[in-house]
Amino acid sequence: MIAIGSDHGGFELKNHVKKYLEDKGIEVHDYGVYNEDSVDYPDCAGPVCRAVLNKDAECGILFCGTGIGISIAANKYKGIRAALCSDVYSAKMAKEHNDANVICMGGRVIGRELAFMIVDEWLGAQHQGGRHSQRIAKIHAIEENQ
Ligand code: RB5
Repeated sequence: MIAIGSDHGGFELKNHVKKYLEDKGIEVHDYGVYNEDSVDYPDCAGPVCRAVLNKDAECGILFCGTGIGISIAANKYKGIRAALCSDVYSAKMAKEHNDANVICMGGRVIGRELAFMIVDEWLGAQHQGGRHSQRIAKIHAIEENQ
């Protein structure tokens, strides 16, 4: 299952990505928001991040206007590696190198077709391990040692 969520700025793109994934037969849980009323993006990251950390979801996709605020908020959750992706190369590297368990996109930045390509690239990529795992371990050491 993939957990998705957004603020009002990412609401429309979230809905397009949700339908895209469901049409491919992928189970999606939409943690909101469910309309375009103005909300605060830090409040929108938590439900998706918690679902990933609890293993209710295999991974998460978050949206806000730029993707920036929601990615900053998501990365405050210990164990979340959220990658802001606006291009296909970054989406692939986010999995291969960073093993991102959440990707973030900006509903006011990218179009739906690019968002679909980003999602496909990220979901289709494999983490490469090796030296990349060592680097991720260092990220988690930062979390532990603050
Ligand atoms: C909301 O207007 C906007 O600030 C938010 O969606 C996001 O872009 C923040 O980073």
